[in-house]
Amino acid sequence: MDLVTFAIESSCDETSAAVLRENEVLSNIISSQHFHSEYGGIVPELASRAHINAIDEIVKTALNDAGISKNDINLVSATAGPGLIGSLLVGYNYAKSFAISRKLRFLGINHIESHLYSCFIGNEKIDFPFIALIVSGGHTILVLVKNYFEHKVLGMTQDDAAGEAFDKVAKLLGLGYPGGPIIDTLAKEGDEDFHKFPSANVKESVYDFSFSGIKTSVLYFLRNNYGDIKDENVRRKIPVNDIAASFQKAVINSLVDKTMLAASYYNVKTIAVSGGVSANSRLKAEFKHNDVKGFEVYFPELKYSTDNAAMIGYTAYLKYKHTRISKEEWEKNLFKPAFARIDYQNF
Ligand code: KG4
Ligand code: ZN
Repeated sequence: MDLVTFAIESSCDETSAAVLRENEVLSNIISSQHFHSEYGGIVPELASRAHINAIDEIVKTALNDAGISKNDINLVSATAGPGLIGSLLVGYNYAKSFAISRKLRFLGINHIESHLYSCFIGNEKIDFPFIALIVSGGHTILVLVKNYFEHKVLGMTQDDAAGEAFDKVAKLLGLGYPGGPIIDTLAKEGDEDFHKFPSANVKESVYDFSFSGIKTSVLYFLRNNYGDIKDENVRRKIPVNDIAASFQKAVINSLVDKTMLAASYYNVKTIAVSGGVSANSRLKAEFKHNDVKGFEVYFPELKYSTDNAAMIGYTAYLKYKHTRISKEEWEKNLFKPAFARIDYQNF
């Protein structure tokens, strides 16, 4: 019998539901909470309320689009963490209730793991070991993946995540939220050598990142060269495209350099880049450049790069197929709490 997996993702500001038959995505419905842009960032309480309002309709649409009935489902999954706890609880508890009421198996999925494996949806030729770079709005992690769900965390950000740096610099420049796609677009029209912003290096810790220094240096550069950046007249004089391009170059170079360093040290030829920032065109171009030198670099399809339930369902599918889960563990799964923060030791 085919494995039909139903999945929910609600860790941040996207309410999403998906259905998969084995490794094939039958539907993947995503509702984004665009209203946060007027606050310049996500307001957690409003995010939770919006998930509650959206979830039932999103689930119904996902089931309809997949053309399956609730009776066809034999595995239920949802993001267990990390994320905004109020947001997580909406999807996690919805999915658990679904599983309990229909006596189905349930898997809580680590959101970061699901980004990691999103590279292989529709392209399941996974060559272990590989180096995974996961770059999202909340996390920046470099991982050696030895086999399915056998991970060694090599490095992570010590402060802001790469996506967070994009969002904060976009805010400084008076652009909208999320900042990543806007900076990506503006940077195409800018001179990336306009100014050299510092790299994201951390002393004596080659695989760790620090992005808050880059963000602060953008702030000082703007203040020192243009004055009070809150003033409309000052804002008009700022070469936004050039600053966007120069900032982006500093972030992307650090991400690529550390990933390639890890790949050479561990003698790994396969690299998988995922998370919202993996949608960045400059990052893709830079890795493609390295690609030529004998590396195989995987990116998720654009629709699977930012938060979505298909990657949660796909990770549940891989876990079901490639790990042994005892009867006791299946029972325990229903009582595991959601978690707000990632546990790097047990990742
Ligand atoms: O993975 P994701 O959807 O959510 C989290 O799990 O955090 O990532 C969202 C992040 C945001 O910070 C957004 O600015 C960034 O991904 N992002 C980008 C691009 N598209 C989204 N950053 C740079 N370039 C992009 N094209
Ligand atoms: Zn994410």
